[in-house]
Amino acid sequence: MLSGIQPTSGSFHLGNYLGAVRQWVDLQEQNDAFYMVVDLHAITVEQDPATLRENTRVSVAQLLGAGLDPERCTLFVQSHVPEHAQLGWVMNCLTGFGEAARMTQFKDKSSKQGTDRTSVGLFTYPILQIADILLYQADAVPVGEDQRQHVELTRDLAERFNTRYAPTFTVPKPYILKATAKIQDLQDPSAKMSKSASSPKGLVSLLDDPKVSAKKFKSAVTDTDTVVTYDEENKVGVSNLLRIHSALSGQSVEQLVAHFEGKMYGALKTELAELFTEWVLPFQERTKTYLDDPAELDRVLGLGAEKAREVASRTLATVYDRIGF
Ligand code: ADP
Ligand code: NA
Repeated sequence: MLSGIQPTSGSFHLGNYLGAVRQWVDLQEQNDAFYMVVDLHAITVEQDPATLRENTRVSVAQLLGAGLDPERCTLFVQSHVPEHAQLGWVMNCLTGFGEAARMTQFKDKSSKQGTDRTSVGLFTYPILQIADILLYQADAVPVGEDQRQHVELTRDLAERFNTRYAPTFTVPKPYILKATAKIQDLQDPSAKMSKSASSPKGLVSLLDDPKVSAKKFKSAVTDTDTVVTYDEENKVGVSNLLRIHSALSGQSVEQLVAHFEGKMYGALKTELAELFTEWVLPFQERTKTYLDDPAELDRVLGLGAEKAREVASRTLATVYDRIGF
């Protein structure tokens, strides 16, 4: 299994955690999982060097704080494994221009900033993603629905290489992460919580003072009704809060609706603020222990890169041999 997260956020938000990172933690138990912080992908848009370096370390510390265990998974930074860029080039040469141009995420992202300010790297980043996946012979790629198209392209390219040269790559399947973990913006609950799109009040950042986040839960936008029920169409705000509660408390939404019977939205918000605080304090503590110990963080990353390269270099050697290098 292979999955990655961008280091561009600094602090992860609650959507990143419940939608991706927490599921990675579960998946490390039963799988040979490779998780990486994708700094090569981050530079598809301009980055300040000091900030990128800092955010990469903060991202790794949060992944460890969230429960990724270097004994149970391979955790590394993408740029520490040069084979990603090397196989990326090979895959670039195997992909049709039109094929790459059909990737809808690029169209969305580039249309916002215009083609002159859009890097070629942003255009070919799904192809680097293909290399990321194929290097580890991944069977499954845990991704959100928005990445499904990229995994389909990965399958096409793996099959193309295998047919043109010789069986080399495992053809991976997307492992679509649970849609129930989709977290909405607290102020605009019809939109997903997002670092780039949410207003500060709508976004719960994991490294913020928990008091700040508690306030955000308490002032979350709901509706003019008062009864706590789950209705994704007509009560998006309340349903979002119920989903977050359920994810953090482990209680089912039905149990929660019964629990809040006769109570109003305020009770749900207060309980949620408490629940979040209870979870986030130890998370922050664990994250901080890694940030306060740069030598330990370096050790973990050195070990991760070594484990990753062992697999990646083997795949790349076979690929180079097959294509005549
Ligand atoms: P953002 O949308 O804030 O820029 P990313 O695109 O970097 O976040 O997402 C990193 C990971 O977190 C991805 O696996 C993505 O599917 C997941 N994710 C991001 N936002 C949410 C959300 N609101 N709910 C659930 N999962 C999310
Ligand atoms: Na494992």
